[in-house]
Amino acid sequence: MLNEFQIWQENHPPLNLISITDLDPTGVNALFSLAKKMKEGTKRGQEAWQFPRRAAVAMIFEKPSLRTRTTFEVGMYQMGGHAVYLTQQDIQMGKREAVMDVARNLGRWLSAIFARVYHHQVLFELAQHTGVPIVNALSDLEHPCQALADLMTIQEWRGEGKLELAWIGDGNNVCHSYLLLGALLGHTMRIATPPAYAPNPEIVVAAQKLARASGSQILLTHSPTEAVENADAVYTDVWVSMGMETEREIRMRAFRPFQLNEKLLARAKKEAIALHCLPARRGEEITDEVMDGPQSAIWDQAENRLHTQKALFALMIEEFVATTGKTTG
Ligand code: CP
Ligand code: NVA
Repeated sequence: MLNEFQIWQENHPPLNLISITDLDPTGVNALFSLAKKMKEGTKRGQEAWQFPRRAAVAMIFEKPSLRTRTTFEVGMYQMGGHAVYLTQQDIQMGKREAVMDVARNLGRWLSAIFARVYHHQVLFELAQHTGVPIVNALSDLEHPCQALADLMTIQEWRGEGKLELAWIGDGNNVCHSYLLLGALLGHTMRIATPPAYAPNPEIVVAAQKLARASGSQILLTHSPTEAVENADAVYTDVWVSMGMETEREIRMRAFRPFQLNEKLLARAKKEAIALHCLPARRGEEITDEVMDGPQSAIWDQAENRLHTQKALFALMIEEFVATTGKTTG
C-alpha cells in the first residue's frame, strides 16, 4: 500500500468528486504525489498501481469529449480496470429510463460512475441512488478533474509555492473548479470576465471560504490586464461552451476584449505559463502564437489529465472497496 493511500484515508476521504469542495488540501497533495508516481511509472512502462480486483466503471457522457473520455478509459485500462462508455444515445438517461434507475443498475455492477452531464443536479441524483462513487466529468457548474490536472501542471512548471493565477474569459464550469482549487491550495486567484459572465455567486462564496482558510486572495474584475499583471499563469477557455451554441453571436461580442494573445501574456511575469483546458477555438479566445509558443503548458495540462485521474480513481475506488467490502466490478 502506498503512503498516499494512508494519507487519503486519514483525511475524510470523499465518497464522490462532484465539486472541488469535496476535497481538502492534504488529500489533494497526496493525490498529486501519487499522480507524479503514476506519471513516472507510465513513462517507464511500469504502472505505479494496479487494482487488486479488476475494477470496472461506467462513463456516462451526455456531451462530446476527447480528453476526458480517452484519459478515463486509458487510465482505467492501465491500472488493470475497465471503463464502459455510455453515450446519451445509448442509455437516454432521463428519457428511456429515470436517472435514479440508471444509478441503481450501474451501482449493482460497477465500482464507480464517471458522468458528464448538462445539469449538475443530475450528479447528486446519481449519487443518491447508486451507492458507488460518482466522479464529475464536467457539468454546467464544475469540471473538477480538469482543475486537478491544471494545478499539477502549474506546480510542474512554476514550483510548489504560492502563486498568482489569472483567469481570462468565461466564468463558467472550468473557471469555477480552477477558482475553488486555487483558493483551496492558497494561491491568489484573479478572475477577469465580462460583467454578464462572472463566476456563479455561490461558487465565489465557497471559494472565499476556502481562501480564508488557506490565506489566499480572490479578485474578481472585468479588466483582463488587471488580472494578468504579474501573474504566474494565465488560463482561458472557449467563449461558447457546449450547450450554449445559440448564444454564439452575443458571446463573441462580449468576449472579444478577453482574448489571450501575446500582448496580454506579456503583462504577466516573464516566466508565466499559458493554460487552456481544450478544446480551443484558435483565433477566438486564444491565438496560435500563445498556444504554440514557448510559454504554453497546454499539452502538459492535457497529458496530466491522465495521471491525476489515475491517482484519483485509485484512491477513491480503493477507499470505497476498503470501507464497504464491495467487490463488484
Ligand atoms: N478539457 C476537456 O474536458 O476536454 P474534452 O471535452 O475533450 O473531454
Ligand atoms: N467550458 C467548456 C469546457 C470544455 C472542456 C464547456 O463546457 O464546453
